[in-house]
Amino acid sequence: MKLRRFPTEKEVDHILQFVTRKKDKDVERLAKDAHTWTRTAWENRMDYEVRWLGVPIIQNPYDMLLMQELIFALRPDLIIETGIAHGGSLVYYASLLELLGRGKVVGVDVDIRAHNRKHLESHPMKKRMTLLEGSSADPAVLARIRKLIKPGDKVLVCLDSDHRGSHVHEELHCYKGLVTKGSYLVVFDTFIPYLKGLKGLKPEVSRDTPMDAVDRFLQENKNFKVDEYFHKFFVSSCPRGFLQKIR
Ligand SMILES: C[S@@+](CC[C@H](N)C(=O)[O-])C[C@H]1O[C@@H](n2cnc3c(N)ncnc32)[C@H](O)[C@@H]1O
Repeated sequence: MKLRRFPTEKEVDHILQFVTRKKDKDVERLAKDAHTWTRTAWENRMDYEVRWLGVPIIQNPYDMLLMQELIFALRPDLIIETGIAHGGSLVYYASLLELLGRGKVVGVDVDIRAHNRKHLESHPMKKRMTLLEGSSADPAVLARIRKLIKPGDKVLVCLDSDHRGSHVHEELHCYKGLVTKGSYLVVFDTFIPYLKGLKGLKPEVSRDTPMDAVDRFLQENKNFKVDEYFHKFFVSSCPRGFLQKIR
């Protein structure tokens, strides 16, 4: 049989009944162990061990799997990511869109290092990527992003740049209007309060965290809600970070 397109979530959902999942999970222990693991993993910089097609992604692998689920379900036309670093997540999202046969990603970073740019500019997935250098909250950058959005486009936004709460809060306000109804604003590194007391945590971030920014934003914007589904692995760098635009 010739496969012409990927099946939709609805078309494969019936397979789930054959998956031997445990219904009565020990949620308390999962949460407790996840908390311990999160702290130990952060101290050992485990997020710096992740790669996609060879390119370093500074992320938790569970979160990346959840992003795959989200992208598969949404099939966005445009994914905006603030904070490129080496570009691993950008290439990852572009690869998923390539498999789905639609969509583009735009990455914004205040400092796209020459070695990262060189690799990304010559990558086979470059056809699905746009790189913008500048601060994510800069009006000129936002204007360039808006030009990439066509009427009717489904837009997903991932915030992973400067993790000070004040900056994340500003980003949330800058990007909320670009997210399509039903789609998501994903805020990375909301787990910073869980790292309290660990050596090496930047004081300016532990005083003013991305989680604080999310809480403030949700108070101010009742048209976004935390999607609890994305807590299913317990281990995550973005608890309360998957914000769905509900209206
Ligand atoms: C945690 S890294 C991004 C990791 C990347 N998303 C990944 O998954 O591999 C944060 C990046 O944000 C960038 N950054 C810091 N402040 C920024 C700002 N105001 N606007 C855009 N990017 C910024 C840094 O240069 C750095 O490359």
